Amino acid sequence: MALEKPYLNVPGTTIFDADQSRKGYWLNQFCMSLMQADNRTRFKQDEDAYLAEWPMTDEQRAAVRARDLNWMMRTGGNIYFLSKLGATDGLSFQQMAGSMTGMTEQQYREMMLSGGRSPEGNRFVGEDGNAQGPMSQSEAWKEWQAQHQLAQAITQADAASQNAAAGQARVTASVFASHVPAIGAAVDHGKTGDDYWAPMFKGFEPSKEWMKKNTPDVIFLVYNDHATNFDLSVIPTFAIGTAAEFEPADEGYGPRPVPTVKGHPRLAAHIAQSVIQQDFDLTIVNDLKVDHGLTVPLNLMFGSPAEWPCLVIPFHVNVVQYPVPSGARCFALGQAIRKAIESYDEPLNVQIWGTGGMSHQLQGPRAGLINAEWDNQFLDRLIADPRDLSTMPHIDYVREAGSEGIELVMWLIARGAMADVAGGKAPTVAHRFFHVPASNTAVGHLILENG
Ligand code: DHB
Ligand code: FE
Repeated sequence: MALEKPYLNVPGTTIFDADQSRKGYWLNQFCMSLMQADNRTRFKQDEDAYLAEWPMTDEQRAAVRARDLNWMMRTGGNIYFLSKLGATDGLSFQQMAGSMTGMTEQQYREMMLSGGRSPEGNRFVGEDGNAQGPMSQSEAWKEWQAQHQLAQAITQADAASQNAAAGQARVTASVFASHVPAIGAAVDHGKTGDDYWAPMFKGFEPSKEWMKKNTPDVIFLVYNDHATNFDLSVIPTFAIGTAAEFEPADEGYGPRPVPTVKGHPRLAAHIAQSVIQQDFDLTIVNDLKVDHGLTVPLNLMFGSPAEWPCLVIPFHVNVVQYPVPSGARCFALGQAIRKAIESYDEPLNVQIWGTGGMSHQLQGPRAGLINAEWDNQFLDRLIADPRDLSTMPHIDYVREAGSEGIELVMWLIARGAMADVAGGKAPTVAHRFFHVPASNTAVGHLILENG
């Protein structure tokens, strides 16, 4: 199902949405680099050499060389970023805007002096206003198009044949697992068979078997960043990773020797747009390093392969600095994510994972708190009555499961994305496991399959 994009029908206008941002990422980042004087100098000295430093497309480089702003926008540029290039050339915003209209500088200035362009006839494509004509194009762009017409026709044919075979993406299962840095260290240092660790890893053997038969195309992985990518300068409540790749972060012990996580930028951008249109305010993150919160659950479910066997969309939830989102908000967000995934026009098998928890407290004289009875009740309620569980206030997590037990609110996002919450069949429990301790933490684990 196509996303709601009424703005595609506004003449002479490009709205910078997640798709445009994905296309234009490096073009816009290149423009940002021109905010530094020494970069401007290097760019002016040798444009080609400077442009070669940025992983832009050849077309984006050609558009920059031609200083054709319409062309740059067509390839994903946004005017606020592109303006750094204009500024480097000594242009004003009025000169930049005017250059895209097909008018001379003088004509444009006079139009603005006489009250600006009228919206009359310029609200919808196909009306008879003065912004309805063909887009002004530089000679360089015209030449580029002539040369690449054939290639474009082939790409369009490919897209059409892909669409013909399309079905919808489906959320097939949810997986819940604690993450603890020490589990990652045990994997990395070959200690999984030690007396301390063996019983914990044994609990995930059935999960690895299940995974072999149920490897998804994409995992939507809900986790929390632990003061790794986001320090106190920026604290997003919910953040979605839309990049193509996510490197493992150096959390102070050196980056974990695990494979690079490969993302799904197109699906992530689709989910971002759909979920924001459902009134959840997501932060879009195009540059993200992932910590133990994300990599440890991957090890628990896949072991240590040379490459992760599927794509992963990281989804971060702030559970570090209060206020953190409520259980009810997380549960509702899960439902919105399900809608978003299942409106994606490609027959992808998608799993949603909730990670973190169970009971643990890493700080203060109460450190080491474990409440196995409460944890197991949490698992029971998560399976049987997640809606009721979602109304539990934060303070109950803190009192009963320890200050860091609040990570468990993230599990409600994954649970909210299951079919029964949207009126479908109740899920089946493919596996359930509980173990104490892993470092300071109670390890809980569930696999729920949609019927
Ligand atoms: C531990 C658990 C966590 O969830 C975490 O993020 C860091 C440490 C622990 O038990 O050591
Ligand atoms: Fe944690």
